[in-house]
Parts: sequence; structure tokens; C-alpha cells
Amino acid sequence: KILVTSALPYANGAILLRHLVEYIQTDIWVRFQKMQPKDKVAECWYVCADDTHGTPIMLRAEKDGITPEALIERVHGEHSRDFAGFHVAFDNFYTTHSPETQACANEIYARLQKSDLIEKRTIEQYYDPVKQMFLPDRFIKGECPKCGAKDQYGDNCEACGAAYTPNELKNPYSAVSGATPELRHSDHYFFKLSDARCQDFLRRWTREAGRLQPEAANKMQEWLGSEGENKLSDWDISRDAPYFGFEIPDAPGKYFYVWMDAPIGYMGSFKNLCEKRGLDFDAYFKPDTDTEFYHFIGKDILYFHALFWPAELEHAGYRTPTAIFAHGFLTVDGAKMSKSRGTFITAESYLAQGLDPEWLRYYYAAKLNSTMEDIDLRLDDFIARVNADLVGKYVNIASRCAGFISKKFAGKLAGTDAAWLKPLRDAAPHIAQAFEEREFSRALREVMALADVANVVVNERKPWELAKQEGRETELHSACSEAIEAFRLLTLYLKPVLPKVAEAVEAFLNVTPLTWNDAATPLAAGHKIGTYSHLMTRIDSKQIAALVDANKVSLAPVLEAAPQKHAEKQEKAAEVAVAAAEASPHINIDDFMKVDLRIAKIVDAGHVEGAEKLIRLSLDIGEEKPRQVFAGIKSAYDPAQLIGRMTVMVANLAPRKMKFGMSEGMVMAASDPNGKTPGIFLLTPDVGAEPGMRVK
Ligand code: 2FM
Ligand code: ZN
Repeated sequence: KILVTSALPYANGAILLRHLVEYIQTDIWVRFQKMQPKDKVAECWYVCADDTHGTPIMLRAEKDGITPEALIERVHGEHSRDFAGFHVAFDNFYTTHSPETQACANEIYARLQKSDLIEKRTIEQYYDPVKQMFLPDRFIKGECPKCGAKDQYGDNCEACGAAYTPNELKNPYSAVSGATPELRHSDHYFFKLSDARCQDFLRRWTREAGRLQPEAANKMQEWLGSEGENKLSDWDISRDAPYFGFEIPDAPGKYFYVWMDAPIGYMGSFKNLCEKRGLDFDAYFKPDTDTEFYHFIGKDILYFHALFWPAELEHAGYRTPTAIFAHGFLTVDGAKMSKSRGTFITAESYLAQGLDPEWLRYYYAAKLNSTMEDIDLRLDDFIARVNADLVGKYVNIASRCAGFISKKFAGKLAGTDAAWLKPLRDAAPHIAQAFEEREFSRALREVMALADVANVVVNERKPWELAKQEGRETELHSACSEAIEAFRLLTLYLKPVLPKVAEAVEAFLNVTPLTWNDAATPLAAGHKIGTYSHLMTRIDSKQIAALVDANKVSLAPVLEAAPQKHAEKQEKAAEVAVAAAEASPHINIDDFMKVDLRIAKIVDAGHVEGAEKLIRLSLDIGEEKPRQVFAGIKSAYDPAQLIGRMTVMVANLAPRKMKFGMSEGMVMAASDPNGKTPGIFLLTPDVGAEPGMRVK
């Protein structure tokens, strides 16, 4: 009995191709398990959920003018759609903002308290006096203590890559309100990871066979230090109100930190599934269980899954994960996928271009193995590989032979237990082992080698020529029937990767859903198959060009940034530095022409109550109704002096819902990026320009 999870996606962002590496990897492994005979795998459940709590989600909802509940519900719909689009088949896709997760979190917390592993301590933290909230590191900006670069985040510098604490920043300011933060005291709750019980347990657990990949186990030893060394610090698991999360029992105004309840969301999602299906939750989570529990994660969140999480479970009296499977990052054409590279490809846009999700599933599988190495989506290689393997080798077998069976033999097969098919059949356990070990690239290499064998046989026998010759019907019948059997075996082996194609093939072959044991039983003589219809098209390079084009986006604003994670800091900084160095300094004319710049006349301007920096503008750009725009220019202009002025606006910026109303564009102004010359300078066209004229 197996329970499998993928990391929970944050409920404030889209699913990207880089996230799909993990969901596709897990889904393939789960589908493979579900194809195994019941005496081997009695049941296998795959659960996930949206990771819904924390400051970024709270602020994002506020920025969109909606409640966090409404935001996470909307995103849940989008995520469900994207996962379904790529055939990622969770048994349950739930939310951490659920009664089940809350109950599990409270229970774990209570048990840890009872074991004397929770401690209350006063800490000093930056506080935003305007927004009246404590600020996470990501929301404090200032000058880098090392190189002096302005507007750097509280944890690392994107200019020089230095890592530091927010207290070291020079001239810090709140990224939320712009206010100067103050250091304030607050009581926080800590999980005592430095306790000898935790350290001893983790030293043992992380070394146990099969728990972690060798690279991961080594990394953990580094973090744990050697025997007697106490390198782990206690983990701060509480946050102060205002916070979107679960309030800690008996601690009013204190909430569980999002990373505390996120992994508990795995339990919550499974608990919800158990309620729906009448399964026994405790059978999976009791300490002496014989069920298996696997987490697929990215290597950036190992710290949480391989240290905090097992220590929590162990000392709260639950089972610990059987193993943690970490994968590497995705690069696109050799560069890390980062927003600034313009290769920030969303799952939605991939599908919207009409690209087949199974192409990507196949390509990822062909690159994936059991290590934490990064995988590279090379777009030209993607096209070549999918076209050559799936269309050229695999589908080609059926498309060249199936027609003769229908036309000449009334859809009925001849016997298919020919000797040349034996190696294809006997490969089943070997290919199974590769899938089991998450060596998907090896599995697919073997499958394609078998497809090569089948193609050689078909090419030698040339059914298309046999069909033209009288008296060779028996040969034609065998040649085509055996090729169809080869195709059935290949489909079986590819089924975890290509579930929809496999479904179509099962219908075409008129067989029940293929399971791994079916490799041993050839299609019988006289078995009637259906008519073949087209299974997969070739990728056209134009589709890929359109995909890249559709995803050229600029850097997202600060508020969308995910909270920085402990172990990821350095990596992130390095990634950003590489991206900055590699980003092309040029855009082409088409890129520029996407920006619709218009001459605008300011027909009205006024103060915005409660906004420190904003002025409300009404802009005439020759449309029926003036546009409303909120511009951050209050420090430099008095609204009264703006009325009647001409300026330039971006007219096709997506409208944005703000606390004060809709903002339907942006006016253009200059400012000194180094801050040497203070001020904001609104652009003005030459005399004679009329409202609505295009600027280019
Ligand atoms: O890093 C992330 O995207 C987190 N939302 C993953 C959480 S996984 C688990 F712990 F819930
Ligand atoms: Zn710096």
C-alpha cells in the first residue's frame, strides 16, 4: 500500500513548465505502480493540495481587492485545469486551508508540546508601522551591505549575490508600504530541532537505506554536522497577525508559519480522501505501519522535507516518510527558467498553443532519472526527439500495418506468438525495474530500442508490397498481426508516460486497460481489432516559436515573489546573476510594437484617500470615456497643476484592480535609477499632439 505526494503549489501563481517536471515525474511513477498486479501493489494513492497560507498570498489577495479565500479558490480552479490538461491524475487535489489540515496541524503541535519540543521565545523582527505588520525577509528592501546596490531584498543581493540578514541592509524600507521598518519584539513559538532527541533521530534517519538519494544524504550530513556537533537551530513555526493561516491553539494572534502546515497538508489531503473513499487513515500514519509513503520534491525544499518534517512526525508519534525523491531544476535551452529570461512558460500557454501534453510528458521522461541533476528542455531537441521517437518509430508501426488487417482480414488477427516478439515480451520486468527506480530515461531508451527492432522486421517484410502480390495473404496477415502485437507491447511500456495515447490504443485494439502482466499474454489468433485512427501528429517548429513568443513577459512585481527559503537563497542569487548576465540587451521591433503608447490629456486629477503615493488621473485618449489611472507621482505633483496637461500613457496594460478602484493603464515618467537627482518627471509631447495619437 503506497501513498505518494508531489510538493504543494503555492496558491498565488500559475503552474509553469518547470513545476510540471515534478508532477509529470510523480504521475508517471504512480501510473506505473497502478499498473502492477494487486499482489505487488495492493493500492497506490496520489495526493496533492494547494499551499494556501502565508504573507505573499495575503498581500496578493489584498492587491487584487479580494479575500484570500476567494484568491485560493480561483487559483485552485486554474491549477486543477492545468494538471488535468497534462493528465496529472491525483486521487485528491485538495487545499491546505481545510478542516482536515487544521486538525492534523493542531494534533501534531499538541503532541510536540507534550514531548516538550515547543518553546516560546521573544525575538526581534522588522515591523512596518504603516501597514502594521511584521515583515518577512522578502518584504524588506534596502541597500546591499556589501556592494551598495539599491532596492535589494532582505535576504540576498541580486546584483552581487551576497546573502545576509535583513538587519544588515542599509536604509531598509518596507516593500509593502515604503515605510522605514522598526525593530520590534514579539513572542514566537519554536520547534526545538536543536534538542538532542531530534539531532540523534535525524542523524540516524537520514542515513537509513533508501530514505534519501546519496547526494541528498550527503547534503543532510553537512547540515547536521558530525556526532556531538549541534548545528541545527530551532525552527520558528509561528507568525504574528495579520497572517493568512491557522491560528495556533491557546495563542491568540499567533499563526502557524506556512511551512509548518504545508507538509501537514499532505496528511490533510489524504485524510479528506480517506473520508471520501472509506479508507483507513491511521493504517497509513501509525508508527508501525507497513504502508509506504513517498514524497517527490524539488531539491530546493529538501531541508523542509528531510529534516523538519520527519523530526516532527517522529516526535509526534506518526510514521515517517519511506523515502524522499528530489529532482533537479528545469532549464530551457540551457538557461535557468527565470522570469527575466523571458522563458517563463506557463502550462496554460503550452496547451493554448495546441501543443500535445503527451509530447512534453515524453520529453521530460526521456530526460529524467533518479538523481537531482537539472534537466534541460532544449526546444530544437524537443521537436526532433518527439517526432523521431513517438511519430517516426512508435506510431509508425501501427499506422503502416493496421489498415491491412481491417481491409483484408475483416479486422481479425493471425497468431502473434512469433519468436522475434519474445525479446519484446521478456523486456517487461527489466523495463518495470527502470520505472520503479525512477530511471525513466533508461526505460524509454529500452522501449525505443524495441521499437527499432519492430521497425526493422516491418521494413524487411514490407507488408505494403506483400499486399500487392497474389498468394501472399498468409505472410501479410502474420506480418501485420505480429507488428500489431509489437505495438501493443510498446504501448503497454509507454502507458505510464502516454496515458491518453494508451487509452486510444486500447480502444483500437479492443482490449481491456493494459496492466503490466498483460505483456505475458499475446493477442490471440482471431482477436478482432477496431479501425486505426490517427494517434499523434508531429510537432511543427512554428508552434514552438509561438509558445516562446507568448511567454515573453517582464519581471513580475515584488508582491508576487514567493517567500525565500532557507537552503535556496544562494541558489536563487546565483540563478538571478546568471540570468542577468545572459539576458539579451536587445528587444526586436515587434516586441516594442506590442506596447500601445498613446498621447493622453489629463482631464481630471485628484488625491486618493489613504494612498501615500498615488494620484488619480482621468485620461482622454480619444475614447468614448476617459481612462482612470492611479499614478505614483504624488511626491512630485499637485493634482491641480496636472489638469489640462498632455502626457503619454501605456494604453494596453492589463487593467488592474486596486484597493481604490480599477487602474486602466500607466502614465510615463522619468526618474533617476540611482536616486542622485531626486524627483519624478512626467513626459510631455511636443505642441500639436492630439489625445489618442499613437506614439512609436
Ligand atoms: O516550494 C513550494 O512551492 C511550496 N509551496 C512547497 C510545499 S511542499 C509541502 F511541504 F507542502
Ligand atoms: Zn550586493
